[in-house]
Amino acid sequence: MNVPIIKPYITEKEGQEVERVLRSGWLAQGKKVAEFEQKVAAYEGTKYAIATTSCTTALHLVLAALDLKAGYDVLVPSFTFVATANSVEYTGATPVLVDVCKETFCIDTDWLELFIEDHYCAGEEGYVNKKSGNILWGVIPVNEFGLCCNIYEVIRISKKYRLTIVEDSACALGASINGVHEGAFGNISCLSFHPRKSITTGEGGMILCDDIEIAEKIRRLRSHSASVSEVKRDSGKGYLLPEFNELGYNYRMTDIQGALGVVQMDHIDYIISQRRKWAKRYNELINKKVGYLTPPCEPEGFCHTYQSYVCMVDQEKLGVKSIEEANAWRNRLMDNLEASGISTRQGTHAVHTLGYYRNKYGYRHYDLENAYACDRLSIALPLYVTMEQEEQDYVIDKLVEFG
Ligand SMILES: Cc1ncc(COP(=O)(O)O)c(C=O)c1O
Repeated sequence: MNVPIIKPYITEKEGQEVERVLRSGWLAQGKKVAEFEQKVAAYEGTKYAIATTSCTTALHLVLAALDLKAGYDVLVPSFTFVATANSVEYTGATPVLVDVCKETFCIDTDWLELFIEDHYCAGEEGYVNKKSGNILWGVIPVNEFGLCCNIYEVIRISKKYRLTIVEDSACALGASINGVHEGAFGNISCLSFHPRKSITTGEGGMILCDDIEIAEKIRRLRSHSASVSEVKRDSGKGYLLPEFNELGYNYRMTDIQGALGVVQMDHIDYIISQRRKWAKRYNELINKKVGYLTPPCEPEGFCHTYQSYVCMVDQEKLGVKSIEEANAWRNRLMDNLEASGISTRQGTHAVHTLGYYRNKYGYRHYDLENAYACDRLSIALPLYVTMEQEEQDYVIDKLVEFG
């Protein structure tokens, strides 16, 4: 049997709508992207949505629009895809990596507050890094694997230390706390539509926000900072090139992707309910039969969308002393599953262990203990909308056999 880590959920309708765009003659960003933006904004409960080429460019665009630059620090949880920290690097500012909770894989807010108290002191312009002199600008909490972080605590801490919050919601379209969707917590947030996410446009991203001025600036910067959009130019005096007053980018999504996104949004509730159904069944079977794995947690009131179904290998239950030993065991497990036709992945990586960040900032693996443990002990199991019960049972059987 072959069980992939993900199968994007694509129906006939996506093909038809993409073909319609291909035949229309307007392939670049246009009406379909605008329709996709409106659909996502309405679904998430935000006023504005701005589509981009990816979540990475979405994050970069937001930070650029907020004038982030060298001399500022931004707190970033280490257990995240490298793109979160890279987006800060692009601006010349410094990503300061912080630790996460092993249970939720999201930023550890208790740790965060202590860290700020230890490493920063109050100054005129804001909190100042005692070592580098940088001003503490903000934090990018990550809603990891489809679970919202402890955002209300992040907001409390941010008020206390005057931080700007930009949420990395690459994995979290549709995730919520007590019925409030990610994106609607009052912060700017960024989504991804990579094929491993709940809905996909091949590649793609989106920025959600409620502030008209920021939204307009982001829209401008997305398209080279042109003072007039291409759609407007097409309907008016198209022969005149507009003015370009700021340094901008080309981070525009195509209408081909927009059309795909519009149809994908029609399936979002079904996609999330199916993913939750399979995750619930995994939880039950793993708790009953696979003692060495801890299933992902879903705190009271939170709705997890299980963009990835990520478990932790339980070092204590394995009876091994070091993370390295447990890591070797996990890797053997992953090899064994791969040999049985089952694809798995490490949840994500701890950015502080990656060469660029180690070399530039001198991080050592154990500097951020939980992020390091998550990197070495996490395992994402296959989960997709069209999964069959037999496929899931096969994964469980192989997990049981290996244990
Ligand atoms: C937490 C997180 N942030 C950012 C990204 C980057 O998203 P994209 O591939 O759309 O640039 C990813 C992608 O996996 C991610 O998981």
